[in-house]
Amino acid sequence: MAEPQKSWEHRLAKATDSLAIDFVESLSFDQRLYKYDIAGSIAHAEMLCEQKLLTKDDLKQIKDGLFEIAHEIEDGKFKFDKTLEDIHMAIEAALIAKVGDAGKKLHTGRSRNDQVATDIRLWMRDEIEVVQAKINLLQKAFVKLAEKYTRDIMPAFTHFQRAQPISIAAYLLSFVEQLNRDNLRLKNCRTILNVSPLGSGAIAGSSLPLDRKKTASLLGFSDITYNTIDSVSDRDFCAEFVFDCCLISTHLSKLAEDWIVFSTTEFDFIRIDDAFCTSSSMMPQKRNPDMLELMRGKTGSLYGSLMAILTILKALPTGYNRDLQDDKRHVFSASDTIEACIDMACAIVENTVFKTEKISANIDKGFLDATALAEYLVKKGVPFRTAHGIVGSLVAKCEKENKSLGETSIEDFKKFSDVICEDVYKSLGGKNVANSYATASAASPAEMAAQINYWKKHLEK
Ligand code: ARG
Repeated sequence: MAEPQKSWEHRLAKATDSLAIDFVESLSFDQRLYKYDIAGSIAHAEMLCEQKLLTKDDLKQIKDGLFEIAHEIEDGKFKFDKTLEDIHMAIEAALIAKVGDAGKKLHTGRSRNDQVATDIRLWMRDEIEVVQAKINLLQKAFVKLAEKYTRDIMPAFTHFQRAQPISIAAYLLSFVEQLNRDNLRLKNCRTILNVSPLGSGAIAGSSLPLDRKKTASLLGFSDITYNTIDSVSDRDFCAEFVFDCCLISTHLSKLAEDWIVFSTTEFDFIRIDDAFCTSSSMMPQKRNPDMLELMRGKTGSLYGSLMAILTILKALPTGYNRDLQDDKRHVFSASDTIEACIDMACAIVENTVFKTEKISANIDKGFLDATALAEYLVKKGVPFRTAHGIVGSLVAKCEKENKSLGETSIEDFKKFSDVICEDVYKSLGGKNVANSYATASAASPAEMAAQINYWKKHLEK
């Protein structure tokens, strides 16, 4: 009789139904864990050998077999057979086919439950580093662009209405700051997940003398997990990783929204390079920011992944449940999507020009200097609330007369407050105001050199 391929075919009277085979398999999407599955198996085998549960010869056969399998997968020669369900059983079956009895000893003291919990952690540890490296490149692209525009002034918006004048660099560095927090969140996620569940077995550990600290250190984990039940039951770190991706995407969607608006004829603040625009099949004049629209839209897919994973985890009975298998669909989808979005954002930031002349031609529209005028009055001893009222009335008058505050005569100013004198004009106009900010981290051109230097050093680390 031919050897059964699946270890439980002695237990179940019937072969798995073909519908069930398709329904239960994860090999189609978990094959990307193969490197980590093999690394975990090698560490496990090394430990089994040290504990005299494998001979040196068994270990050699297992390692040689696993290396061969890794090469076959990399060369596209490995046959992924979905009846074997997942990457763990596909590799184990291939190993047994190659080396026989030594291969049959590999799963000693191990379950797919601790195996998959180990694999996904190993994969995520690397993936976090990939995403962090991409974030770093995007931050550097923002800093490089900011360096070009430290002295150029643009309006800042609140409620999407003109608010106060700022250095364009300060606007750009706001994204560097957001991305820095995204990076820290990922770092924290990596710290939390970087403990080894291997040796937890199916749920309770094993009666064999497994050395969990040994496999943990061979795999570069900082420690072992301290509860075998929790080790195989939870994937909270997967939800956390997807959440971190969601927040990155939230930040990128703000960038996308800003720049879609900034590139309209109405705003005309920026020009996105042609290489990152599309046109219309009907309207010949169009330059559409489709990449940014997709970046904004993909936030929806990411939030969907988060909702999926949270729902999978909700109210699961303690212990491993097969529901958990689908975590990988959402984790992989989130990581693929966020990688593509960060790459795209980076390319667009590297290829966008701010139309500084157009922006400065309109900088005195919208009373961006009104707050600075109120602060001028405060410096002359007027209580802020009173100053706010005076400037509010001045703005209302200027708006009626279609003038800027800077076009108001001293005589007219005096009608509103007699403390105003000739020096008031130094406190008006976009450039003057942006240059007058005195608080730490303010959006003034003078602050930018120090901030840019800070980021340059920080991002090299
Ligand atoms: N492919 C499975 C997963 O991703 C492996 C664990 C299966 N364990 C089990 N006891 N059926 O979760």
